[in-house]
Amino acid sequence: MLRPEEQLQLVERDEIDDEDDLFEAIDKLTSHGINAGDVKKLQDAGIYTCNGLMMHTKKSLTGIKGLSEAKVDKICEAAEKIVNYGYITGSGIETSAITEAFGEFRCGKTQLAHTLCVSTQLPTNMRGGNGKVAYIDTEGTFRPDRIVPIAERFGMDAGAVLDNIIYARAYTYEHQYNLLLGLAAKMSEEPFRLLVVDSVIALFRVDFTGRGELAERQQKLAQMLSRLIKIAEEFNVAVYMTNQVIADPGGGVFISDPKKPAGGHVLAHAATIRLMFRKGKGEQRVCKVFDAPNLPEAEAISFPVQLLVYFPISSTNLTTSEF
Ligand SMILES: Nc1ncnc2c1ncn2[C@@H]1O[C@H](COP(=O)(O)OP(=O)(O)OP(=O)(O)O)[C@@H](O)[C@H]1O
Ligand SMILES: [Mg+2]
Repeated sequence: MLRPEEQLQLVERDEIDDEDDLFEAIDKLTSHGINAGDVKKLQDAGIYTCNGLMMHTKKSLTGIKGLSEAKVDKICEAAEKIVNYGYITGSGIETSAITEAFGEFRCGKTQLAHTLCVSTQLPTNMRGGNGKVAYIDTEGTFRPDRIVPIAERFGMDAGAVLDNIIYARAYTYEHQYNLLLGLAAKMSEEPFRLLVVDSVIALFRVDFTGRGELAERQQKLAQMLSRLIKIAEEFNVAVYMTNQVIADPGGGVFISDPKKPAGGHVLAHAATIRLMFRKGKGEQRVCKVFDAPNLPEAEAISFPVQLLVYFPISSTNLTTSEF
């Protein structure tokens, strides 16, 4: 069986302009007095960046074979010097954050994922992300041929756009988690700006059934989401994940559409921005900002499906006229 990092298929193409590094590779530690052997130990433990290193407790680092407490202190001190904390400003679906889109079937969640795959690759002066895309598909609905017209619409070379997307299909929740682990290695090597997980919950709903397994499901889901948050922050990528809805019989008779996002509180806490999609009349789709730290609630926007397909990554607050 292929290792997770080998399952993520990447066709090399140097189409993307160089940009300042937004994370620091772990081997930079060697220029701060840490020996290469210890750096190798960190890499073997799955730590590829100084930013990622700083997300580990000293206790967990001393658990790595061959790293004493004194060594870990030195390593952490060096990493803190290297990592330059700061805020990235600009517009777009937020990097270092998780955007969740939920809604019933055929309401456009996957279509938006396809559009983001393209718009992420636009240069920054066109308010794109100028970076590569990783796509984890749990439902088998990614369509490269859908990417082609979207890329052409943006005036981009479709072949080059496709080459900058790495894709993997996940079949179990464990597989999905392992793919995320493999992704860290890829992201430490190349400038990624977007990670799509379509959908984050589907496999959990298949792999865990019944009330008896609910607690375990939520615990595993929390681990997955924590991994996603770390990837978003460590590599400064935007995470776009889709979610399904469940019937909410407790919603009461006065609620016209008693559906709520799946995943419960665990998922609600993990998402920074929550978008609710629903079908409108005919080809219309309605997107509502359900929860966002910087936006007022209840701003509903309607747009035809065709327009949605061209939804740009760069409309910061998803309420602008760009819809
Ligand atoms: N090329 C296209 N141009 C315009 N609309 C399209 C195109 N391809 C598909 N659609 C429309 O997009 C909708 C499908 O949306 P999408 O697959 O994103 O749904 P979804 O929210 O991901 O649903 P699910 O929960 O089943 O995954 C359909 O209504 C379909 O008609
Ligand atoms: Mg879909």
